[in-house]
Amino acid sequence: MAEMARESDVSGGGVDIDRLEGEILGAIDGVSAMDALEQIRVAELGKKGRITALTKSLGALDPEARREAGQRYNVLKQAVAHAIATKKETLESVALDAQLLDETVDVTLPIRPEIMGRLHPVSQVTEELIAIFGEMGFRVAEGPDVEDDFNNFSALNIPPEHPARQMQDTFYLQAEKSNMPLVLRTHTSPVQIRTMMSGPPPYRIIAPGRTYRCDYDLTHTPMFHQVEGLLIDRRTHMGHLKGCLTDFVRTFFERDDIPVRFRPSYFPFTEPSAEMDIGCRRTADELIIGEGDDWLEILGCGMVHPNVLRAVGVDPEVWQGFAFGMGIDRIAMLKYGIPDLRTFFEGDLRWSGNYGFGAIDVPTTYGGLSR
Ligand code: DAH
Repeated sequence: MAEMARESDVSGGGVDIDRLEGEILGAIDGVSAMDALEQIRVAELGKKGRITALTKSLGALDPEARREAGQRYNVLKQAVAHAIATKKETLESVALDAQLLDETVDVTLPIRPEIMGRLHPVSQVTEELIAIFGEMGFRVAEGPDVEDDFNNFSALNIPPEHPARQMQDTFYLQAEKSNMPLVLRTHTSPVQIRTMMSGPPPYRIIAPGRTYRCDYDLTHTPMFHQVEGLLIDRRTHMGHLKGCLTDFVRTFFERDDIPVRFRPSYFPFTEPSAEMDIGCRRTADELIIGEGDDWLEILGCGMVHPNVLRAVGVDPEVWQGFAFGMGIDRIAMLKYGIPDLRTFFEGDLRWSGNYGFGAIDVPTTYGGLSR
């Protein structure tokens, strides 16, 4: 009792610090909103606050009294600051609980199709490709859109004077540090190079992704999509290539009887090279795949050229295999009857509503590729 009286005495100016502290802590305790708490903080601890003013008034006291009162004010200040911080935490957690309760999502509610996005046919077909080749043991590999000359051309046995390098096809970029020209990759074939340079054979990958060429009409856009395939092992031969790709088109187009043929062709990075056609029938306004006596080119392929293997340090006397490349947009157009490639990239919601796919149906060869 004596102690308390003394403390109150030294507080100066007749202020009863204990009472004041009790009063402030009580007020903090009673607060239930953040702005009211902030008001208390400003009124007590702010620049013009009560406790701040008390601290300032210390100057008028004699040294002994100043020290004692100063200590008491500090204790008061800390008690109030601590009470405010604690209260703030409580209020925040109460607010969070309320918010969580308010924003609870009932995941058991049925889907509202009218507000669901649709999967773009390119994404759908990419998923289908991954499902089909994945089951054959191919993993997905990726490479960047900006490539260097070595990966996009030289390592693929495309000599400097090859027409594919010429300005009208290739988008060239300013070289940054090195002297090696950079390009927007004109095909996904550089992923073959990247894959083989990143580890030892065997390889079995597909590489879907964006590709770029300076071209624009009904069936060409400056950005389009390809998928590359590469399989290198010790005894892989052309029969494997034919079996693999025949299985692929039949699974992809969901018809077991699609006629296929391999026509000799030329690509710098394969020898021998071929193009694969599938049987089709053309009517005045329709293209029917899998029947009729017409042919439709669908992909390029071949046995990987020994020069390509040498360029990445793989011994062509030990390792060999096949590669293929195909346009994803093109096979999407064929499978889903979409006439104009340019519409793929216009971002028209009515178009995606019409040609898009359910976003939660994952294509599998056993559950159905497209429904
Ligand atoms: N890169 C070729 C192109 O863009 C497509 C291609 C053909 C890729 C034959 C291959 C292949 O891997 O073996 O036209």
